[in-house]
Amino acid sequence: MKNQLQLQIDSASESMNDGFVDYYKNMVSYFHQNHAQNLSYGDFSSRTNRATNALISEKEAIFYIVAYGWQHHQSMQHLLSQTIDVTSEPQENTRVVDYGCGQGVATLAFMDYLAKKGVAQQSALEIHLIEPSKVSLDIAKLLIERLAKVYGMQVSIHCQQRTLDTALISLNSECTETFHLLSNVIDIQTVQATLPNLAKQMNSCTGKNFLLATCPRYANAQTGFRLLQQTMGFADHLYDECWDMTYEMYRVMQACWSQHTSTQRMAMMSWISH
Ligand SMILES: C[S@@+](CC[C@H](N)C(=O)[O-])C[C@H]1O[C@@H](n2cnc3c(N)ncnc32)[C@H](O)[C@@H]1O
Repeated sequence: MKNQLQLQIDSASESMNDGFVDYYKNMVSYFHQNHAQNLSYGDFSSRTNRATNALISEKEAIFYIVAYGWQHHQSMQHLLSQTIDVTSEPQENTRVVDYGCGQGVATLAFMDYLAKKGVAQQSALEIHLIEPSKVSLDIAKLLIERLAKVYGMQVSIHCQQRTLDTALISLNSECTETFHLLSNVIDIQTVQATLPNLAKQMNSCTGKNFLLATCPRYANAQTGFRLLQQTMGFADHLYDECWDMTYEMYRVMQACWSQHTSTQRMAMMSWISH
């Protein structure tokens, strides 16, 4: 039997008619109306080490989406809009690998981007989600399946509930291009330690490859971007910018909507493997 929070996640996922934005707004509304039952910022932050540890409950998953979901979605959308022209050479089969996917926000942003550009139905997506948290991974799968239905997209979803040091990118498929998404994970030390091994696996994905990485410009993230540049020597480093991103979002500490500005660093690399 589903508990109340699982039912809330289900009903928020059902509200997605125009993309991830609907899920976010539905969750904000729930969070705002149930203040007494939510986690506080302090409790969430100390238990999860500022959202870098794997989440262990639906309560944490809801807090995460309300506090960070929109920012992460918007930065991935911005990076895509600056660097990827999905209308130029649509491929029949596209692979997406979302490293440390959490609740799948980066993949959802990618799907929203394809829909916005009118090409959602042009290619079948083979989506690989790698994430140690079972709660997050289950939600990611639910949301991606739901959004695929809304957009009429053909998707196959492959989940690996594990950390990146033991992850294996599956390559035996017809995909001719791969999008590697590193959304808000580059600042995590255990992720940084796996970059050399990940880079080797990425380099063996045949066809066209794109790597998109985003993270707020913290000191730890800067270290992560430097390591990424070093390990991805085989790729063309086509974009690396900091963007002062201003957007309307719900602020969990103030319990209201307001304009927020944060500086995001975002990078895109590309390569072809034979
Ligand atoms: C800040 S969240 C980012 C989640 C998602 N990519 C997003 O943009 O919303 C960091 C994520 O990295 C995951 N994570 C932490 N250490 C990891 C590791 N060693 N390998 C894979 N994922 C890891 C956490 O469980 C969490 O979901």
